[in-house]
Amino acid sequence: MTNNIEHVLEETRKFDPSEDFVAHSHLKSRADYDELYSKSISDPDAFWGDVARELHWFKPWDRVLNADNAPFFKWFEGATTNISYNCLDRHLSTPRKNKAAIIWEGEPGDQRTLTYHQLHREVCKAANAFKGLGLERGDRVAIYMPMIPELAIAMLACARIGAVHSIIFGGFSANAIVDRVQDASCKMIVTADGGHRRGAVSALKPTVDEALPNCPTVETVVVVRRGGNEIAMQEGRDHWWHDVVGPASAVCPAEELDAEHPLYILYTSGSTGKPKGILHSTGGYMVGTYMTSKYVFDLHEDDTYWCTADIGWVTGHSYIVYGILANGATSLMYEGTPNSPNEGRFWEIIEKYGVNIFYTAPTAIRTFIRWGDEWPNKYDLSSLRLLGTVGEPINPEAWMWYHRVIGKERCPIVDTWWQTETGAIMITTLPGAMYTKPGSAGLPFFGVKAAVVTEEGEEVDGMHSGLLVIQGPWPAMLRTLYGDDDRYVDVFWSKFKERGWYLTGDGAFRDKNGYFMIIGRLDDVINVSGHRLGTMEIESALVSSDLVAEAAVVGYPHEIKGQGICAFVSVPKGITPTEADVQKLRDHVAKEIGPIAKPDQIRFTDALPKTRSGKIMRRLLRDIAAGKETTGDTTTLEDFSVLAALREESED
Ligand code: PRX
Repeated sequence: MTNNIEHVLEETRKFDPSEDFVAHSHLKSRADYDELYSKSISDPDAFWGDVARELHWFKPWDRVLNADNAPFFKWFEGATTNISYNCLDRHLSTPRKNKAAIIWEGEPGDQRTLTYHQLHREVCKAANAFKGLGLERGDRVAIYMPMIPELAIAMLACARIGAVHSIIFGGFSANAIVDRVQDASCKMIVTADGGHRRGAVSALKPTVDEALPNCPTVETVVVVRRGGNEIAMQEGRDHWWHDVVGPASAVCPAEELDAEHPLYILYTSGSTGKPKGILHSTGGYMVGTYMTSKYVFDLHEDDTYWCTADIGWVTGHSYIVYGILANGATSLMYEGTPNSPNEGRFWEIIEKYGVNIFYTAPTAIRTFIRWGDEWPNKYDLSSLRLLGTVGEPINPEAWMWYHRVIGKERCPIVDTWWQTETGAIMITTLPGAMYTKPGSAGLPFFGVKAAVVTEEGEEVDGMHSGLLVIQGPWPAMLRTLYGDDDRYVDVFWSKFKERGWYLTGDGAFRDKNGYFMIIGRLDDVINVSGHRLGTMEIESALVSSDLVAEAAVVGYPHEIKGQGICAFVSVPKGITPTEADVQKLRDHVAKEIGPIAKPDQIRFTDALPKTRSGKIMRRLLRDIAAGKETTGDTTTLEDFSVLAALREESED
């Protein structure tokens, strides 16, 4: 970590956008940015009011921000709107009516394009079908689907009738479904038989079936036929999408919803306890994702935009569906993996559809580097004009490769920092208005008061890193943790309670030009391939196996994934673990949480190193996992007691 900080600090390379890019961009200079930024800070009500007026409201607001009961902020108080209306109906009376809203490519190579008009019809039909199955305003719906258009349709259909969606990433296990469905008391699950991944059908409905006995609140399951795999359907409970949506009416006016009506819940890992149900509401989230999409991606009417994230993560919610469609842009959606049928698939898609804006994760970029330049070099990438990254810090070398090999030194790169909780991009460069610097996210977006502070809340500058905080509310912010207001206050707002600052949980520092560099998480959350995983969850999964007495999980630097997962496991007395046990434990974690949480390393020991007060010495374990400290032999049970004794003082 320290090396990385020093490395970034030494970074002197700066890249200005080309004259051509600037000429066509929404914001053309740093002065433009400065002016808008200072307006957004000095008079946020006027600023956000102006932005919001670009969208449709059934009834205007009485107040832009109500902070009377902070941190339970209300945005656009008194207004009514509907985000599905803004993503669809708003465009139908414009030349966008028959513009592609979603261009979809399936992994086997099949394609579908839905114009705004067609997408509107499909969403209305799905909304009517859901209503016909008993779904009402405020009900929660779990969505567990592959990356197919019906996923976006289901989201927009829920939003249209005021049902609250909770999307569960299709790679999660039955247990993860149970936790999430139970926490939100979901009434319905929308899923598919399976989806295509890495050249094969990956089943989804059977995983839902495994979860269902422990999901007593679920009354209905709607299943899209996609994989064609054999599945069981339970009479009365399970319905094929084509049977219920197919014949439904395509007329379904969007419900007039309060600006604070809940839009969705999305679960994310914390360092302790069960996953947190991040709750987003309608009006502010809509305005925030609309505005950031427009300026960060510099969206223009003729752009084809592609975000490679899965909609199961927040990036897909905000920047495949809501923010992009609210702008009336064309959003490309791809079902599969980047190496199916070969490592050129992403570049082939860019060439095939003439993609102009490409948004992906640093972990993907590092993987492309490893696969070799010959893959992107085979394809015509000249349509690209803007690149983006999200999810984790990007190392300057990966940034330079992206700039050179994909962007051909022509495309600005926006390194966007944000979180599930923030709903929308918070720190980034605006591509036509300012230079970029490898490894540096950039400046705060409009309305965002970002700062780097000490534990005591003093601002720090320059060479000193500190805690990244946001010094006040913003429209797309989370509203609470579902069903747990206390935890919401405690996790995000209690550390700097008097000052009213939001704690991001990330470390950062700011260079002399005000650019923020994000170091990463300061808590025990591991960022694997841009996805946050709580060490606690993985530890509980491990401990639920008979092979494990105690477990401590730490992250370590991983060339491709950013961070890898290392599990230190103490075994019950008398057990001598074998190689096969390593695999058994990895599979066990995959079953409990999902393959994404599988430990990369499992290291067995008689006892975990602990301080005199009984705390596991996590810093020592992190150093061992990173190879900075070694016990020599890792083939048999390791003994950390000597190292622990040496470290005792510093960790207690
Ligand atoms: O640590 C930061 C890292 O990802 C965390 C948020 O994870 P999640 O809620 O899953 O959302 C990911 C997509 C928005 C942050 O706390 N992170 C995200 N973007 C960046 C980043 N770290 C450095 N640079 C980024 N651009």
